[in-house]
Amino acid sequence: MHTVAELLKKGNTLQEVTIKGWVRSFRSRRFIALNDGSTLNNIQCVVNFEETDEAILKRITTGAAVSITGELTESQGQGQSLEIQVKKIEILGDSDPETYPIQPKKHSFEFLRENAHLRTRTNTFSAVMRLRSSLSFAIHKYFNDNGFYYMHTPIITGSDAEGAGEMFRVTNLDAKNPPLTEDGKVDYTEDFFGKETNLTVSGQLEAETYAMSLGKVYTFGPTFRAENSNTSRHLAEFWMIEPEVAFMDLAGNMDLAEDFMKSVLGYVLEHNREDLEFLNQRLLDEEKTKPQAERSEMSLIEKIKFVVDNNFKRVSYTEAIDILRNSKPNKKKKFNYIIEEWGADLQSEHERFLVEKHFKCPVILFDYPANIKAFYMRLNEDGKTVRAMDILFPGIGEMVGGSQREERLDVLKEKMKALDIDEEELWWYLDLRKYGTAVHSGFGLGFERLVMFTTGMSNIRDVIPFPRTPQNAEF
Ligand code: 4AD
Repeated sequence: MHTVAELLKKGNTLQEVTIKGWVRSFRSRRFIALNDGSTLNNIQCVVNFEETDEAILKRITTGAAVSITGELTESQGQGQSLEIQVKKIEILGDSDPETYPIQPKKHSFEFLRENAHLRTRTNTFSAVMRLRSSLSFAIHKYFNDNGFYYMHTPIITGSDAEGAGEMFRVTNLDAKNPPLTEDGKVDYTEDFFGKETNLTVSGQLEAETYAMSLGKVYTFGPTFRAENSNTSRHLAEFWMIEPEVAFMDLAGNMDLAEDFMKSVLGYVLEHNREDLEFLNQRLLDEEKTKPQAERSEMSLIEKIKFVVDNNFKRVSYTEAIDILRNSKPNKKKKFNYIIEEWGADLQSEHERFLVEKHFKCPVILFDYPANIKAFYMRLNEDGKTVRAMDILFPGIGEMVGGSQREERLDVLKEKMKALDIDEEELWWYLDLRKYGTAVHSGFGLGFERLVMFTTGMSNIRDVIPFPRTPQNAEF
């Protein structure tokens, strides 16, 4: 058996081939457009209807699974180079043309989200998901080529100290009738793990332990956040890539993140041309429906190339605040949150202003105020900023969050005390600072945000197979 991709790439004409796939359309009782997911392209299969049983012809409907054997020939018609002259057709699985949701016409993304189990039978979603697969391969390849070890951090965690977001509880206690302590609270010592456990919000703290023994490691796994943020950029379950490197400072961290992202995007530019060109055209068509002033200056492929070919702009938080304070939307009170003084947390409207209007390129913001960032970030000598970095992308906002980690035991303990974080809970994390501590750094890249940037999809629900969002866990 062959795949359509193989045949279109290097099929010899006049050979007999067998392929299996799903009927996208059947025209004039003669032309089947067959797709098997191996490529965006359908292969045209030409049926000799005079010699084909009428009962079989009736069953060749959109969505049906078929097996076709025939001769590969140069195509007579336009729009394809090769086609198959069908000798034998077998219906593997019938479809019901009346109720099959994926008709050969344009469907809205909302409709396709409700049919997420079938939406990869459309060109857009098959292209997006092939790119998603390719990006994850490119990520593993980058780290493997650069001497990193892949580490699997736990999904169930007993510590919620990271503070990256609200967590989902993991329990097998009876929800209606949980065991209670004397003072009426749920008694988690009776729970499966003998303590409160949750789904992880990040693998970072565990990854740090491996960086401090294996040197260069990364994690790539699902993470969970129970924030009720129903936006086009947030999921309750998303995938995160978190490299962690011993003896690397914040400057090295920025270099790594930039090199990594350029490499991964360069990989798909080289290997996923067909899907990218399709998505590029889809967006160009969409842009044409917008007023001139709202149209993007660059096409999708131009945007990806721009990131690969240009340096990210590195700007300190303090400089960014100055730019924002003096910006037009701030002075004219167009921002929802007006930036008045140093110390303000940046909202996505500010991040977008910086990358989309001011710098017009990816920006690495660094050295944030300590009190708006996590406890584990390395305190700077000024005593008020930490060695944090966020990477902001045009159209996406925050893509990466990372930092140099606090490696000094006394400073870390003081910070934890100030934030009321239990030392006993993180005894193992503190041990890293007791035994052979060293400068180390890492970052987290939200995988779906990278897929959004690469595919030009504007809703994060459309770049993960089965999105998990507030009030939605179908499929
Ligand atoms: O900035 P965050 O919260 O960083 C961490 O979790 C660190 N522990 C990472 C590290 O240093 N190892 O999250 C990292 C990235 C964000 O920049 C964003 O791209 C993505 O994860 N992200 C989300 N993506 C989808 N849905 C959500 N709810 C997300 N929350 C964060």
